[in-house]
Amino acid sequence: MDNKMVSPELETHIHQLASQQPDDPLCAYLYDLDSLKNRIENMVSVLPNNVALFYAAKANPMPEILATLAPYIAGFEAASGGELCHLAEQNIRKPLIFGGPGKLNSELKTALELGVDAIHVESITELKRLEVLTHTLGVVAPIYLRMNIDIGNITLSKLAMGGKPTPFGLDEEDLDNALSIIKKAERLSLKGFHFHLMSHQLEAGRHIALIKRYFDMVKQWQALYQLDGLSINVGGGMGINYIDPGKDFDWPYFCDRLNQLIIQEGMETTQLRFECGRFISAPCGYYAMEVIDIKKNFGEYFAICRGGTHHFRTPSAQSHNHPFVVIPKQRETNNILTTSDIQNICLKNQAVSIVGQLCTPKDVLARQQLVEQLQIGDYIVFTLAGAYAWNISHQAFLMHPAPKFYFF
Ligand SMILES: Cc1ncc(COP(=O)(O)O)c(C=O)c1O
Repeated sequence: MDNKMVSPELETHIHQLASQQPDDPLCAYLYDLDSLKNRIENMVSVLPNNVALFYAAKANPMPEILATLAPYIAGFEAASGGELCHLAEQNIRKPLIFGGPGKLNSELKTALELGVDAIHVESITELKRLEVLTHTLGVVAPIYLRMNIDIGNITLSKLAMGGKPTPFGLDEEDLDNALSIIKKAERLSLKGFHFHLMSHQLEAGRHIALIKRYFDMVKQWQALYQLDGLSINVGGGMGINYIDPGKDFDWPYFCDRLNQLIIQEGMETTQLRFECGRFISAPCGYYAMEVIDIKKNFGEYFAICRGGTHHFRTPSAQSHNHPFVVIPKQRETNNILTTSDIQNICLKNQAVSIVGQLCTPKDVLARQQLVEQLQIGDYIVFTLAGAYAWNISHQAFLMHPAPKFYFF
């Protein structure tokens, strides 16, 4: 593992945090808000003129993350009534989008009362329920129809929400019915179409092909149904390369190609939206675990660390070995532990599995990864832990305490 993947500043914060609780091994999430700010500024600076970038709060809804992003983005996407209320409570005064399957009447009502910018409608039933609510409340619902479409020979990524049978969005077959319901409804205002067909997209070229497909479909529908002035939300899904962290989705190249596509397709006056999550916030987060024990079992080494997948489910959710660096504990003499002979285990150029404290063999964050040197008391710091990490984890399992949270 490459130590250059974390900044000296982060190392200092880890040592400081550890020194604040000398009797207990460290377990903490750390978030680099400066790097998040730089990242979002850079992302927004290369967007084509008619594209607005929203943040999908499901990736990481922590107030500090939302507040850091708010000045740079067009708004936030919420995928539940809980997220919607959480976003509203932050008082960030940015447009909100409400999406997601299985919306409750109470959630739709909240969305209407909050005056959201758009509700992404997932089904005919939802459309009808929304219509009833608009009458009861006497308000207009701004809606986008979420569509699941055939994407021909464009390759799906490993996490596909569309382009095949899924619970998400309206089938093209339902569009006719949906549009006639909207036409007759007094208070349903169609603002556009929404697509989010896949996450974990690493290939910019492939994503451009997907967006071209969305453009083609919308143009077809506009001609067929005489629709005008509609926007297109093209979702999120730009991927983070956890296996080869240098080879992420190439955002500047993608934006350049998108700009060309917009001109080529005559879409300059169509408002486009992204709602990205992972690609925005993953790189700013770190999950640090102190090594409690090192042992050998059936010929393989295991480093048992404070915490586990109940804090950081990302590696098991994605079935990957999560990238990490080892930060040696600051030791008094020559990096050698002196407190106890028992602790004097030092792996050198050795493959080791990084596991947590849970009594399940599934509590593995990285399997048989080579480390230059590792001792009890060192810190394993997982990078790219700022999205779909703490908030997707089974935090209550075994009642271990939560990690510390630190923003710098
Ligand atoms: C509808 C919708 N929009 C946006 C996102 C954000 O996707 P990502 O974090 O891959 O950008 C998701 C993720 O599941 C989603 O379901």
